[in-house]
Amino acid sequence: MTDYKTMAAQIRALAEEERDCVPLLANAAAVIFGGMDEINWAGFYLTDGEDLLLGPFQGKPACIRIKKGKGVCGSAVMRGSVLRVDDVHAFPGHIACDAASRSELVAPMISGGRIVGVLDIDSPFEGRFDESDEAGAALLAETIAREADFSRLAPAPRD
Ligand code: SME
Repeated sequence: MTDYKTMAAQIRALAEEERDCVPLLANAAAVIFGGMDEINWAGFYLTDGEDLLLGPFQGKPACIRIKKGKGVCGSAVMRGSVLRVDDVHAFPGHIACDAASRSELVAPMISGGRIVGVLDIDSPFEGRFDESDEAGAALLAETIAREADFSRLAPAPRD
């Protein structure tokens, strides 16, 4: 069974060294990709205006921009809570980045009262994730949202 508590502890330990969201999310993606069986992608999409923009990840190259409300990731943002899809082929609007992906788990990251992005985990196996994975992904997303410093993503001041 996946040890989400240990992964969360590893991410908290990494954050003690550096909270900037780029290195922390990059290392968090590595912790999650290395800490779970039967997955083919783990990483982040970050809020960029009305879109989600690809962030640090492990796995095959992925689609770069996702409109809010589109795909599993954009639907999880609209919903504001974890979205688990047992069979992505049966999910209307699923965005196929890696044709091998069959099931998907997306947890929004909320910081300062707004969704700063999502944690996205894909598996090549249908029904790979269950309720315990939903709770685990929510724990990881909460931990990362709390520990990471997203201020580099703030819009540049206009002159
Ligand atoms: N399948 C996702 C797109 C991102 S990839 O899985 C990495 C979606 O439908 O939002």
